[in-house]
Amino acid sequence: MQLRESHLSTPGPQRAGSLDRRTVIAALGLLATGCTAWGSGSSDPARGRVLVAGGSGRAGRYVMRELADGGIPFRATTRNVDEARARLGDAAAGIDWVAADLRDPAAARAAMRGVDHVICVIGSRELGGDNSARFVDYGAVRNLVDAATPGDVRHFVLLTAIGVTDPQSPANKAFKGALEWRFKGEEHLRDSGLDYTIVRPGGLVDDPAGVKGVVLAQGDDWRRFRGSTITRGDLAKVLVECLGNPAADRLTFEIANDPALPPGAWRQALASLQPDLKQT
Ligand SMILES: NC(=O)c1ccc[n+]([C@@H]2O[C@H](COP(=O)([O-])OP(=O)(O)OC[C@H]3O[C@@H](n4cnc5c(N)ncnc54)[C@H](OP(=O)(O)O)[C@@H]3O)[C@@H](O)[C@H]2O)c1
Repeated sequence: MQLRESHLSTPGPQRAGSLDRRTVIAALGLLATGCTAWGSGSSDPARGRVLVAGGSGRAGRYVMRELADGGIPFRATTRNVDEARARLGDAAAGIDWVAADLRDPAAARAAMRGVDHVICVIGSRELGGDNSARFVDYGAVRNLVDAATPGDVRHFVLLTAIGVTDPQSPANKAFKGALEWRFKGEEHLRDSGLDYTIVRPGGLVDDPAGVKGVVLAQGDDWRRFRGSTITRGDLAKVLVECLGNPAADRLTFEIANDPALPPGAWRQALASLQPDLKQT
């Protein structure tokens, strides 16, 4: 596959704990070999191209690796391709990056051009200012959703957080109400008419994936998940699995690692979840 001239990312010092360089090289090397199949070995290019909004972030890199492992074509966003390239270095030189500050609706529309699926893992790290949750976790998500035309974009997967529905949840209090903006972003997606999946993780960690089981739950019972974590690798597998999976349509669920469960059992659990009642 001929890859576009692009902008890649490697874990920099400020992103310690992200994929190690060798892992990134191994995963992204698949792109350079020209894989175009969807999923492990089963070629289905009709399923199309994925936009990884926030590919430059810590979760985003794992999503890109998962897509690359499956030979699934993707494009990824960052606000600054030079910085992203500096972080990931030569290892990711084949990635199809698009520079997009998604607070700008026009940038969101441009990023969405020619895209069939979206995995959105953007998020603000700022408690105030013009790139805080209000403008990113809500505003930029809203712009992406509005740029995605139902029918053209076949599935939109959005990463949010456990506790978004309760202003009293510890995460919401710790981040000064940021999760309330996340919830508004969720609601905008639910009301959009798009096929979607909303995934609410516990704390994200970079431990090895596929070691512990993964529990899926619904109802945003943050007390049950207090202190829970999930590896970004396990999370990425679930996010990618939701694409093109009819069982994942209109689902909202919480997710965390659970050592009591066998790794991989979450696939059956996904099929047993209940779609959101809200209809558009
Ligand atoms: N960390 C946790 O424990 C945790 C727990 C639960 C939920 N989450 C959620 O999971 C998501 C991913 O977490 P993470 O650790 O991967 O975050 P991260 O490393 O901080 O990545 C954030 C991403 O958002 C992008 N972004 C920020 N502002 C943007 C803007 N104005 N326009 C476009 N893109 C923008 C960044 O891109 P550039 O900077 O390259 O432009 C980056 O790709 C976040 O939404 C977070 O809220 C995290």
